[in-house]
Amino acid sequence: MDFTKLARKYQTPLYVYDFDYIRERFDSVKEAFRARKSLVCYALKANSNLSVLKHLATLGAGCDCVSAGEVKRALLAGVAKYKIIFSGVGKDDGEIEFALKEDILMLNIESEAELKRVEKIAENLKVTARISIRVNPDVDAKTHPYISTGLKKNKFGVDINTAKKLYIYCKNSPFLEPIGIHCHIGSQILDIAPYRDATAVTAELLRSLKALEIDIKFFDVGGGVGIRYKDEVTIEPYNFAQAVLANLSGTDVTIVCELGRFLVGNSGYLLTKVLYEKHNGERRFVIVDAAMNDLIRPSLYDAYHEIEAVDKNGGGTLADVVGPICESGDFLAKDVILPPLEHGDLLVVKSAGAYGFSMSSNYNSRLRAAEVAVESGKERLIRRREEFEDLVRLETEYLEGADEENR
Ligand code: LLP
Repeated sequence: MDFTKLARKYQTPLYVYDFDYIRERFDSVKEAFRARKSLVCYALKANSNLSVLKHLATLGAGCDCVSAGEVKRALLAGVAKYKIIFSGVGKDDGEIEFALKEDILMLNIESEAELKRVEKIAENLKVTARISIRVNPDVDAKTHPYISTGLKKNKFGVDINTAKKLYIYCKNSPFLEPIGIHCHIGSQILDIAPYRDATAVTAELLRSLKALEIDIKFFDVGGGVGIRYKDEVTIEPYNFAQAVLANLSGTDVTIVCELGRFLVGNSGYLLTKVLYEKHNGERRFVIVDAAMNDLIRPSLYDAYHEIEAVDKNGGGTLADVVGPICESGDFLAKDVILPPLEHGDLLVVKSAGAYGFSMSSNYNSRLRAAEVAVESGKERLIRRREEFEDLVRLETEYLEGADEENR
């Protein structure tokens, strides 16, 4: 990929996504589940750019959404309604109503209180809500505590016994139709064992529900398969599928997975230019034009993203790569080896396709980056760079004195 050309044409900071890579990743998951009916519901929180969604939808993906906004994005990008699922611990009434009216595939329910709310809203709308229940299997995914979700102490899902009770409740409600079982144990998972353990728990529930004549059609194993940022040994799609399928012999369910990072993480690059270099005592700082508002993962999780100087020889000395934001937590990397750099030199931050732009903000009134897709050697803009007017549009009309007529 010609980063220099892209940076010249679209300026920096710039997100660039390799759409061919996304296709390869998607195909590898479908291939791994080839022996079964499967539905890959892309977790669009990882990267919700409409063109990314459309690309995946064209390949056959559904979407896992966590807000009405995400459901709307999926619909706008052309994702089929019957491939959209809606997860999340705190759906509000408006969101539930919207999802039911849009008739999406199912809502993943995370508590008894939420189930009752969905039932009430479905009754008001005179519809039957297709649901699945998120089971918290109490399994340790051994990942960063902020992104581990399958332990009893986490806020997600319900325990197995409560889940069973809720399914029985649904069976007796004319407004609830339980069609799925859901489980998601965390993110950036590198070990296959937690998947096997979690699906063992949910598969047992599946069988006991069958005995109660509750017909579950979708077995949703969540997402979370990790990627390589540095030197991690990651899970192969085939092994992921085997771990899931190990407990499902003799069952006839569609396997749903909600992968986000796996599909898009390594497809993305954040291009940024060097503004200045400085030394404070012993420490070398490379100040760049991207910041924690563009990519918050290093600041928030101490996450590692490889950074390389484009068109420079290797070697160099240790440096911290930091942004212009007024916080010491504003860094993209610490203690990385970089060659001598000067104003205008280009750096590329790798593996930035997931939870990069989608977690970006306007902190310090910074304009969010542009996004570009590269497919079959051709690039195209998929989100224009923000302008100052975009930043203040929702405030200017309320500015006292700004518009005489409004007073
Ligand atoms: N399904 C559910 C219900 C989820 O909560 C998540 C992620 C996924 C699927 C997709 O997980 P993935 O396949 O992308 O690992 N901001 C963090 C990651 C937060 C993940 C939250 N839930 C990060 O930058 O590492």
